[in-house]
Formats: sequence, C-alpha cells, structure tokens
Amino acid sequence: MTKQHERLIVVSNRLPFSFRRDDSGKWRAEASGGGLVTALLPVLRHRGGIWIGWPGTSEDVPDISPELPVAGEDTGFTLQAVSLTAEEVRNFYEGFSNEVIWPLFHDMQLLCNFDPAYWRTYREVNRKFARAAHKASRAGDFIWVHDYHLMNVALELRRLGTKARIGFFLHIPFPPPDIYLKLPWRMALIDALLQFDLVGFQTAHDRRNFLQCVRALVKDAEIDGRGQIVQASVGGREVRIGNFPISIDYNAFMRQAASPEVAARAKELHRMLPNRNVILGIDRLDYTKGIPLRLQAFQDLLTRYPDLRERVSLIQVVVPSREDIAQYRDLKTEIEQLVGRINGTFVQPGGWVPVWYVYRSLSRVDLIAYYRAADIGLITPLKDGMNLVAKEYCACSIEEDCTLILSEFAGAAMQLGRSALLVNPYDIEGVADAIHRAFHMDKAERQARMRRMRRSIREYDVFWWVDSFLRAAITKDLRAFPLPENHVADESADHALLF
Ligand code: UDP
Ligand code: G6P
Repeated sequence: MTKQHERLIVVSNRLPFSFRRDDSGKWRAEASGGGLVTALLPVLRHRGGIWIGWPGTSEDVPDISPELPVAGEDTGFTLQAVSLTAEEVRNFYEGFSNEVIWPLFHDMQLLCNFDPAYWRTYREVNRKFARAAHKASRAGDFIWVHDYHLMNVALELRRLGTKARIGFFLHIPFPPPDIYLKLPWRMALIDALLQFDLVGFQTAHDRRNFLQCVRALVKDAEIDGRGQIVQASVGGREVRIGNFPISIDYNAFMRQAASPEVAARAKELHRMLPNRNVILGIDRLDYTKGIPLRLQAFQDLLTRYPDLRERVSLIQVVVPSREDIAQYRDLKTEIEQLVGRINGTFVQPGGWVPVWYVYRSLSRVDLIAYYRAADIGLITPLKDGMNLVAKEYCACSIEEDCTLILSEFAGAAMQLGRSALLVNPYDIEGVADAIHRAFHMDKAERQARMRRMRRSIREYDVFWWVDSFLRAAITKDLRAFPLPENHVADESADHALLF
C-alpha cells in the first residue's frame, strides 16, 4: 500500500488459528498449518490490518469472536471470524473446495465429486465471507481474497456495492482448458474471477492456463499485453492478471535455524542416526504430495543400490490434514502399509531403521531442526502451486552442504530450476537415481547449487511477493515488473524446457 491510511483486509478460508474444544469444553486455539498461513502471517505481522476467516470449528457454534482477541494478541493485526455451520463445512469446505476444486486444479479430475449441492453452498458461503469483508472495509482499503475457497467473493462484494479495490491470489495451480472445461460451473466461476481488480497466480504456467480458459469461454474478453502482468477488458471492466511466486520470511527461518535451540535439536537427531545421510520429506497428508510413489522410490533405491543400505534413513513427516474426507483417510492407510513393508524388508533389528515415519504436526523448533539436520530434502509432489517446504528447507540449510531433490511439477521448480535435482515424481527409478546421485555428489557442487537457491529465495522473499502484488494492483506502468531471474528463463520454454 502506498498510503498509510489504506488498510489491508485479508480474507481467506482459514485463519492463522484454528479452534478446538478441550476435554473441559473450553475453546483452545492452535496454529493452523499449510502454506497459505505460513506465508501470510509475517505479512500481516509486518503491515497490520484485518484478517477475516473461518476459525476451523466444525460444529454449529453461535460465535467464537470473544476468543479471537486472545488468540490474536501480539500478532499486530485484528482477527475476525466467519462461522460456518456443520452443513456448510461439509458442502463448502470438504465438498466444493476439497472434493471439486482441489482435485480438479491439481489435474486429478477422476477424484472429483461434482455434487450440485456443493456449488449452491459454495455460493452462499462466499456471500457470507463477502458480507463480513464489506462490513469491515471502507473506501480506500485493499481487500485481498485468498485461494480457491473464495473465488466468488468479488462478485458478491460488487453486488453489495463495495468501494474498496479487490485482489485475489490463487495459492494452488490453475489447470489447462482441457481439464478446467470439465467443471460444470466453469462459466460462472471464470466470470466470478474476472470481477476482481487483480488476479494473481503462482507461475506463468498457471497464468497462461487461466488466460486460455478466458479466451475459450469469454467471447468479449480483450487481452492486452505480455510479460508478468496483462490487462483484460471484459464487459467494460479492466482486470489485471499476473503471476507472483509466493515465498517465505527467509530471514526469520534462517535466524531460527542458527539458534542454539535448533542446533542442539539437530545435533540430537544426528546422534540418533550416526554415520547416516538423512533424507527428509515433510508434507501435509495429501494425495497431491506424491508420498506413496516417493516411498516406492526409496524402496527401489535400497533394492537397486545395496551399498546405500544402513547409510541412509528417510524421515517422512506427515502432517494430519482434512481428516474427514475419505480419500485422505485411505491415503494414510496406504502410506502406513508402505512404511511397514519397507521397514519389514530392510530393518536391522536393534540397528538401522530405513524409514522414520512421523504422523503429527511439528513444533516450529522441531520443523527447523529437521530441515537443518537433513542431508537431502526429498520433495516430490505430483502437482503443487509452489511448495513452501522446499524454500524453507533451503533457507534453513545454513551450512549450504545439502541437496534438494524437487518435483518438476511444483511451482518452486520454476524458480529454483536446475539448481535443485529436478525429478518426475511418477518415475520411481528416476527418483531413486536422483537420491543416489545426491548421496554421491561432491561437496563443492552441493554447496554451489544450494548457494544459488538460497540467494534467489532470500532476494524474492514473502515481503517481495506482497509488495509486487500490491504494486501491481495500483501501478500505472505495468512494464515495471521484474520476476526472479530463473522464473523468466524457465517461463519462456515452460515445462518443455525441463524435458
Ligand atoms: N508445516 C506446518 N506444520 C507442520 C509442518 C509443516 O504448518 O507440522 C508448514 C510448513 O512449514 C509449510 C507449510 O506447512 O510452511 C506447507 O506448505 P506447502 O506450500 O509446502 O504445502 P501446503 O501444505 O500448503 O499444500
Ligand atoms: C493449501 C491451501 C490452503 C490451505 C492449506 C491447508 O496450502 O492452498 O488454502 O489452508 O492447504 O489446508 P486446510 O484444508 O487445512 O486449510
């Protein structure tokens, strides 16, 4: 924002705190997980403003507002809750958001459940969020709506006559037309997105997919410009469409990685895994993260490269997520069976355990200690908007003596490019070979690669991301938008460059 009196009003499905009742029936606030919260928390701490969202309760609660000032204490911004009924949680959050849009936008259309009731509730709940944002805002504010749960909010805000400018950022990928066109409500949703003043995507690839869908569906759309931000004129309105790779608070991660507390915890991990390379995977429990294929690749590594047995251990952290959706529960069973099978085959009783499986959410100190202790970061999503774990891993690798193996299909691959070892997560033997290569890579190469990635993440951190988004919303000169160097290079040929 350029002027001090302009306030930032963030609207996202999830607040940074989720509430659960403890055994005595009292509400307890827990930090919410996932990339959106990790990225937005430092931004709001830094700038202040209002954060409107769902407090994560899945029962018909009358009002949780009295708890919010307590949870939001010392955060530097104001929290405002939008309560959802149990039916809304089912149809809007689990249903339309996570059984339709989430799989469709991650190219997994066979997992979609296109239930018409979901769409009806999605529109109603978006209206609810819009009413809360309208009430909280005044002309001159900037309302910034986040992610796939809330794509209808600008449309509803316009109906309410909101004067503030409205931006939208999609944290997940946007699919190509041949997938998007399967959505029964494709026209309504594209029209709704074009009601924002600025629509932001993670990568040039996502932005291009979106523009192709606009061209296919909206006959009167005139699209003007090339580069990071383009302007579309639709039905007499101007909409800006750009790509802004999200990032992390690099300095905060790096500082904490250097703290004595983290150093001691990382040392303890090394003591428990003596003379061994630590390979690390950290993911929310999600079928987009490619965890079963990754485990199969690790099994293949131990089978084809017996010299690595007892010399590597995989720590796989799985953070519980969306536990009320059947596909997520089934995935947990599949992962646990695979871990059991690998350990059953290779374990040395009283000695080496090949896979350390951790199913819980981590404290920040533990998370950063795992990052710091790991020799190889193994991040192989089948499709991911960005993947902040990849960036956090690099930021915390303060000795710069480790390797990142990264899926070509994570948005982060566009920025980090070939400084990471890029892999196709579906190629089990290819991933195993990449681990083998990382294990034998000489120190000078490891360090040079890690140094390049860390430099890019430091320069284009989350504060750069927020500034470039907000500038794009207000600037007159759209040519003034340089992207990270690698983005520009990799974008020109897109994924084709990787093959
Ligand atoms: N994370 C978390 N709790 C944990 C472990 C990790 O909240 O126990 C964070 C992690 O630090 C990262 C985020 O979850 O910031 C995951 O973001 P990413 O973009 O990698 O994937 P997402 O979960 O958003 O799909
Ligand atoms: C991804 C989504 C976020 C979401 C997070 C955690 O990062 O882009 O919008 O908050 O996953 O998922 P959850 O369903 O628990 O909010």
